[in-house]
Order: sequence, then structure tokens, then C-alpha cells
Amino acid sequence: MSFKDKVVIVTGASSGIGAATAVELCRQGAAVVLAARNPGKLAAVRARCAAAGPPPLLLPTDLVNEADLKNLVDKTVEKYGRIDILINNAGFGSETPFEAPDAVKVFDDIIGLNLRAVVQLTHLALPHLIKSKGNVVNISSVAALSPIKDMFAYCTAKAGLDHFSRCIASELAPKGVRVNVVNPGPVRTDFVENMGKEEVGKFYENIGEMMPLKRVSEPEEITDVILFLASEKARGVTGASWVTDDGYMIK
Ligand SMILES: NC(=O)c1ccc[n+]([C@@H]2O[C@H](COP(=O)([O-])OP(=O)(O)OC[C@H]3O[C@@H](n4cnc5c(N)ncnc54)[C@H](OP(=O)(O)O)[C@@H]3O)[C@@H](O)[C@H]2O)c1
Repeated sequence: MSFKDKVVIVTGASSGIGAATAVELCRQGAAVVLAARNPGKLAAVRARCAAAGPPPLLLPTDLVNEADLKNLVDKTVEKYGRIDILINNAGFGSETPFEAPDAVKVFDDIIGLNLRAVVQLTHLALPHLIKSKGNVVNISSVAALSPIKDMFAYCTAKAGLDHFSRCIASELAPKGVRVNVVNPGPVRTDFVENMGKEEVGKFYENIGEMMPLKRVSEPEEITDVILFLASEKARGVTGASWVTDDGYMIK
């Protein structure tokens, strides 16, 4: 697989799956654009990327802010003149039962990042993706395929993301633009900590024990699937949802 000179936007590039993906893309020669909010974490990822390959472009971005999304696309095109690949990876979850008083507010926030921002950013990037006959990889979850207790908002957002991806894959196929989804199971990142969970180490230990393969994934394993789908090797793959979940869906 070669990503030499491919221009790739990675959202949620400041940690976890996004960071691992950005570093590997740089290692493979891509011109990578890092988009997320946390300046300290972004700077650390930029340093890892620069040690691996061409230094990436860092664009601090709040993906639920329309002006930031426009800036992300405009600055990418200003610097590199094109967009080949869009990796919509940023996301967050919340354990909030549907009966909770703030359930609808949580739903709006989670849909806002995990679904609406993806729709809006993909729409803004679309003319450039059509021009380059590029592709989109959306990072969903097994939560799209099977309910998780007290996570109705996240599960619904990810299910929407999957179907959005199939819908636009169908619409954009005649223009040569591919759209695919990766559905990870549990992955060791900052995701669980960002949900406000305590004893994160213990959480991963317990959930690993529950997995048929008795493990949880590392971010780099998800990167491998993302890069395959984004590469020329997957030139015949569109509208696909690729599960990589340590057996979560067969437990
Ligand atoms: N870890 C898992 O077990 C797991 C399982 C299935 C699916 N996933 C999915 O994988 C994707 C990546 O998650 P991860 O596991 O790598 O979690 P993570 O380490 O928490 O990373 C989440 C990323 O999203 C970014 N982000 C959050 N809100 C944002 C906003 N408003 N604007 C811009 N960026 C924002 C964060 O950056 P800043 O805070 O710097 O903005 C961070 O870079 C998500 O879509 C998640 O739903 C994760």
C-alpha cells in the first residue's frame, strides 16, 4: 500500500485510533492533516508523525463548529491543492439511560459530533473528493449493529453513520468516490476515560475477559483496516462495513 503524496484529513487525530492512523499514514508518505481540539495532544501527535514521515498540517478544529469545518477544508486545499481521503474518526460516547432527565440533550450532543459533523464535513469536502476520485472512511462501532446498555444515543448515532455511509456510497459510486465504514469493538484508547469512567485499566481487563478472543484491540489494529479500505487495494470496495471486534458480535 502506498499513500505517497495522498492528501488525507484525519479527524480526532489527537489520540487513540485517529493518532495511530495519522502516524502510519505519515510513515507511508501521505500529506496528513490533523484535526481535533486539544492543542497539547495534537502537538504530541504532530511530533510522532514528523518522526515517521512528512510533517503533517495541524489544524485545531472543533468539529461541531461550522466555521471550523469550513476552515479545515479551505486550509487543506490552500496548502495541498486537493483532498484524496477523508477519515471521519472523531467521536465520543456517554452512558446515559433513555430515562435520564438529560437524555435528549445528550442525544443532541452525541449526534452532533458522531453523525452531523461527519455529514457536514463530508459535504464540504465532496467537490474535492469528486475531483480526485477519492474516498471516505467513517469510524463507526459495533454499537451501530447491536445495542449497548445505557448507550442509546451513541448506538443510534453510529447506526445512522453506517446507513449514511451506504446511502452516499450508492450516490457517489458513479463519480468514482468510495465510502466505507469500520466498526471496531473495544479498543484501548482515551475513549472510556473521556466517557468519565473510573478505573479504566480494570474496565479494559474485564471487557477483554468477556471477548471471545479474550482481548481488546490496540488502535494500530484499527488503523490497518482503515488504511486497507482507503488504499488502492480496496478499489472494488464501497458501501462496506468492516467489523474488527475481537469477536464481540459473536459473543
Ligand atoms: N475505543 C473504543 O473502544 C471504540 C470502539 C468502537 C468505536 N470507536 C470509535 O473510534 C473513534 C475514535 O475514538 P478513540 O477510541 O480513538 O477515542 P479517543 O481516544 O477518545 O479519541 C477521540 C478523538 O475525537 C476527538 N474529538 C472529540 N470531540 C471533538 C470535537 N468536538 N471536535 C474535534 N475533535 C473531537 C478527540 O480530540 P480532542 O479532544 O482533542 O478534540 C480525540 O482525538 C470514535 O468515533 C469512536 O466512537 C472507539
